[in-house]
Amino acid sequence: MKPRHQKLAATFVGALCMVGVALAAGPAKTSKAKPAADQRAPLVLLDHERHLVLEEMRNFLAVLQTITDALPREDMKEVARAARTMGSGAANEIPPATVAKLPNEFKVLAGGVHTSFDLIALDAESLGDPKHTVSQVAEMLQKCNACHGIYQIKVGKDVRAKIRTN
Ligand code: HEC
Repeated sequence: MKPRHQKLAATFVGALCMVGVALAAGPAKTSKAKPAADQRAPLVLLDHERHLVLEEMRNFLAVLQTITDALPREDMKEVARAARTMGSGAANEIPPATVAKLPNEFKVLAGGVHTSFDLIALDAESLGDPKHTVSQVAEMLQKCNACHGIYQIKVGKDVRAKIRTN
C-alpha cells in the first residue's frame, strides 16, 4: 500500500506545482474566458439511434476495462476473448438505416477501432505479450479520441436526405 500512497502524493504535489506555474504565468493572454460552444460536427440521429451508438460506446469502454483488468494478471486468453467481442466479426447492432446517416469519415474511424480490437485479440493469442497489448490499446485509444474530437450526437428529425447531399 505504501508505495501507492507515495505515488499518489507525488502526483498530487506534481499537480500543485503545475497549478503554481500556471498562476505565476498569470492569466492566459491568448484565450479570453468565454464558455465555448461545442464546435464538433453534429450527427443528427433519432433518439433510439443515439441510444444504439452510445450503447456501443459503453461496450467499448467496458471491454477496455476487462482488458486492463486482465493484463496485469497476464491473462492473455481473457484479453483475446474480450477484444474479440468488439472486433469486426462481432455482430454489428447498428441497423443499416442508421449507418446510412453516418458520414464516411465516421465509419472509417469506427472501422479502425474494430480492426484494432481484431489485432489485439490475434496478438494476445499469438504473442502473449502484455506490454505489446498495452501499446496496441494506447494506439487504439488515439482513434477513440480522434473521433470524439470531431463529432457529437444531436437528437433530431430524420435528416438522412439532407446528410446525403453533403
Ligand atoms: C467513429 C467515431 C467514434 C469512435 C471511433 C469512438 N467513439 Fe465513443 N463516441 C462517439 C460519439 C459521436 C459520442 C457521443 C459524443 C457526444 O455526443 O458528446 C461518443 C461517446 C462515447 C462515450 C459516452 C457514452 C455515453 O453513454 O454517453 C463513451 C464512453 C465512448 N464514446 C467511448 C469510446 C471508446 C472507449 C472508444 C474507443 C475504443 C470510442 N468511444 C470510439 C464517437 C466515437
